[in-house]
Formats: sequence, structure tokens, C-alpha cells
Amino acid sequence: MRAPLHVITGGARGFGLAISQRLLADGGRVCLLGRSQSSLDTAVEALGEQASGFVCDVADSDSVDAVFAAIRERFGSIDSLVTNAGVARPNKVENLDAAEVAMQVNTNFLGTVFCCKAAIPLLRGAGNPRILTVSSASAWHTDEMAHLSIYAASKAAVERFTRDLREELQDDGIGVTCLRPGSAESGFAGDWDPELLEIAFASWRESGPCMDVGMTSNHVADAVAWALSQPPGVAVDLLEIRPNMKAPKP
Ligand SMILES: NC(=O)c1ccc[n+]([C@@H]2O[C@H](COP(=O)([O-])OP(=O)(O)OC[C@H]3O[C@@H](n4cnc5c(N)ncnc54)[C@H](OP(=O)(O)O)[C@@H]3O)[C@@H](O)[C@H]2O)c1
Repeated sequence: MRAPLHVITGGARGFGLAISQRLLADGGRVCLLGRSQSSLDTAVEALGEQASGFVCDVADSDSVDAVFAAIRERFGSIDSLVTNAGVARPNKVENLDAAEVAMQVNTNFLGTVFCCKAAIPLLRGAGNPRILTVSSASAWHTDEMAHLSIYAASKAAVERFTRDLREELQDDGIGVTCLRPGSAESGFAGDWDPELLEIAFASWRESGPCMDVGMTSNHVADAVAWALSQPPGVAVDLLEIRPNMKAPKP
């Protein structure tokens, strides 16, 4: 029997890399999608011969369609899609930058929509096909961080979209899960404007001195692997995993 093939958007870094490592360790093969060829090359080299990388901007439907056509050409079908690619930019609503609003909505929400649409025909017919979308605890919990209104709203849209996806794909036997992680260390805030980050932190500190810590990318990856490994006929609809130790806010 061939090893299951998982497609992970944003698979070269952060949560996506940890998810890829975990799914490989479980005996799978992985296709990583991301915008940076060099990040993909580095990840694929580290992950080994069961991993491959495809340059793709999930916010661009043509790019997504081209990559899924290439995956179909090379592998025929896939067993799961994990829509993990995501971006955030902190800012107060009155100062929002239109390009940054579009980037967050287009990557987080439309990127999820485009990838699910393109993956469905490749998933049909697999033994236990799965789609897992990645939301964020900030979609529902306001104590996660301040000034992430657009990011949080784009993730709430992902969750609502995933509910319809579940209903639509039931007759195809495609199990659908939405994962809602809280914060864990990754490169996620690495490219945020330091000034806007500090303003957001200052506002966040006003809501209390402590934050929750203790979760790593590997815990998120374990949650993904568990959801994907459910038997046919069972799907984890919504899975929220959050850190659970108190620490002073930065
Ligand atoms: N870290 C957290 O605490 C946290 C908490 C809750 C939810 N999440 C969610 O978890 C997911 C992963 O976050 P992370 O912390 O691992 O972030 P990260 O370290 O910044 O990684 C983000 C990944 O997304 C990819 N990406 C971004 N824009 C893309 C695009 N337009 N097309 C294709 N790939 C794109 C990046 O690759 P390239 O830059 O190479 O394209 C990168 O691999 C995100 O959806 C995030 O919203 C994270």
C-alpha cells in the first residue's frame, strides 16, 4: 500500500514544518507549498526524500490551480490537505492599511478557499481523505493579542467556511476538521512592524498582566496528526488547543 500523501500549505516553516515532520514520522509523504523556493528547498532537504516542495502563493487562485495540477500530474491523488499558510499584521482599525487588510483576507480566507476547491478532485477516491483548515484562538478569544481584528475576522471566516465544507463533502467521504490553535512559538510575528507590535503589546497589557504559554509547534502538529488519523466515518469537527500556563506578558 502506498504511503498517504499530505499537502501542507505554508509547510516550510513554523507550524507547517512541524506538521510535515510529524506526518512523515507517521509514515506519510508530504508536499509543502510556500512562496519562497529557498525556504522550500531547505525544508525538503531536511525532511528527506518523502518530501517535495511547490512554489505557490495561496492568495492567487491561478497559482493554486497550477500547483494542484502539477501535484495531480506527479502523484495522481492526495490523501489530505492542511491549509496552514497564514499571515497577520497588527494595527488599530482606524489606522488600517488597505493593502495589509487585503493580504490577510486573501491569504488566510481566500487562500483556504482556493486550496480546498483545487484539492477536492484530488482527494476523491482516496481511502480516508481529509481536509484540515487552520483557524486561530484569536477568532473567538479577545485575550490572545490586541489589534489583530482583520486577522481574527479572517480566521472566523475560515471556521464558517469549514462548516459548509463538512456538509458538502460528507457524501464524498472526505472528513473535514477545523483546528483552532492558541499561541505557540513560531516565526509568526517575525515580520511585524516593531512599532505597531509595541503599540499592540501596550494595549494588550492593559487587559491583564499575564498570558498563557507552554505550547509548541509540535503540540499543534500532534493535534493535526490525531485529527487526520480518525477512521473513515469519523471526523473531528472543531479542535481548539491552547497553551495552559500563566506567564507575565512581554
Ligand atoms: N503561531 C501562532 O501562535 C499561531 C496561533 C494560532 C494560529 N496560527 C496559524 O497557524 C498557521 C501557521 O502559523 P505559523 O505560526 O507557523 O506562522 P509562520 O511561521 O509565519 O509561517 C507561515 C507560513 O505560511 C506561509 N505563507 C504565508 N503567506 C503565504 C502565501 N500567500 N502563500 C503560500 N504560503 C504562505 C509561509 O511561507 P512563505 O513565507 O515561504 O510563503 C510560512 O510557511 C497560520 O495560519 C496562523 O494564522 C498561528
